[in-house]
Amino acid sequence: MSDIVYLNGEYMPLSEARIPVLDRGFIFGDGVYEVIPVYSRNPFRLPEHLARFRRSHDAIRLANPFSDEEWTGLVDELIARNAGEDQSIYLQVTRGVAKRDHAFPSNTQPTVFGMSNLLTTPAKEAIENGVAAITANDFRWLKCDVKSTSLLGNCLLRQAAADAGALEVVMFRDGHLTEGSSSNVFVVADDTIFAPPKDNLVLPGITYDVVIELAQRHRLPCRIGPVSEEAVRNADEIWVTSSTKEVLAVTTLDGRPVGNGKPGPVFRRMHQLYQEFKRTVMRQAA
Ligand code: PDD
Repeated sequence: MSDIVYLNGEYMPLSEARIPVLDRGFIFGDGVYEVIPVYSRNPFRLPEHLARFRRSHDAIRLANPFSDEEWTGLVDELIARNAGEDQSIYLQVTRGVAKRDHAFPSNTQPTVFGMSNLLTTPAKEAIENGVAAITANDFRWLKCDVKSTSLLGNCLLRQAAADAGALEVVMFRDGHLTEGSSSNVFVVADDTIFAPPKDNLVLPGITYDVVIELAQRHRLPCRIGPVSEEAVRNADEIWVTSSTKEVLAVTTLDGRPVGNGKPGPVFRRMHQLYQEFKRTVMRQAA
């Protein structure tokens, strides 16, 4: 099976998908997107992803072209037409094609795109030994809660991590933890899990919500509130979460070990809970 994508009402091989160069997604990064993990051909937390997609459309004043039901049909179709039991579905809507002008065009059709990639969840080695992260000043804009395709800040930050041989960057703004370039960040101190609030400075992660729900359900102490840079630097454990990374332990920060330099006990418990939860949800969906 070749890669089949959706573009403006049609399914086609990826190699045949074309958009005009004046698409505002290309010219301005004027669009929003979602990434939905698929396990055993079942999308995980799809209603939550679609709700966030709706909020992203609203935030950039772009009419959502589809209802949740229509999006669900599109996602199911992409899953069916592509190979792989575990996939990562990418959806993107841009403000469409128009003569270049910063102000919104009137009467322009949005460009709607969807594709599937194989979902590559973290390797056993990364789960068992953790990953490296660096720290950086969060210089992005003040609407980080919008899942916008304008990701230059995130790309520059992620590349700084890659240049340092690290997987992710842990960011601070005004002395407080925000998030990673493409993940949310949690810390553990004295067996308590701490997470920054879902405000305009972070993306409200779907995985973040799952982790907090699991902590609450299994009575792991968990506090949501501002997390100081000092608390991060002195944490026993640091985790990153996202739809593709799931939950991963950061075991070195700026080259220094986090805690004892191994994934900690609270991480191991949460990782196990997350895997169990995934399996339960998928059994129910099957
Ligand atoms: N990124 N923060 C940022 C900046 C992100 O880009 C992401 C996800 C997250 C985690 O959100 P979620 O748990 O809903 O995946 C947090 C996706 C995977 C991406 O851009 O590829």
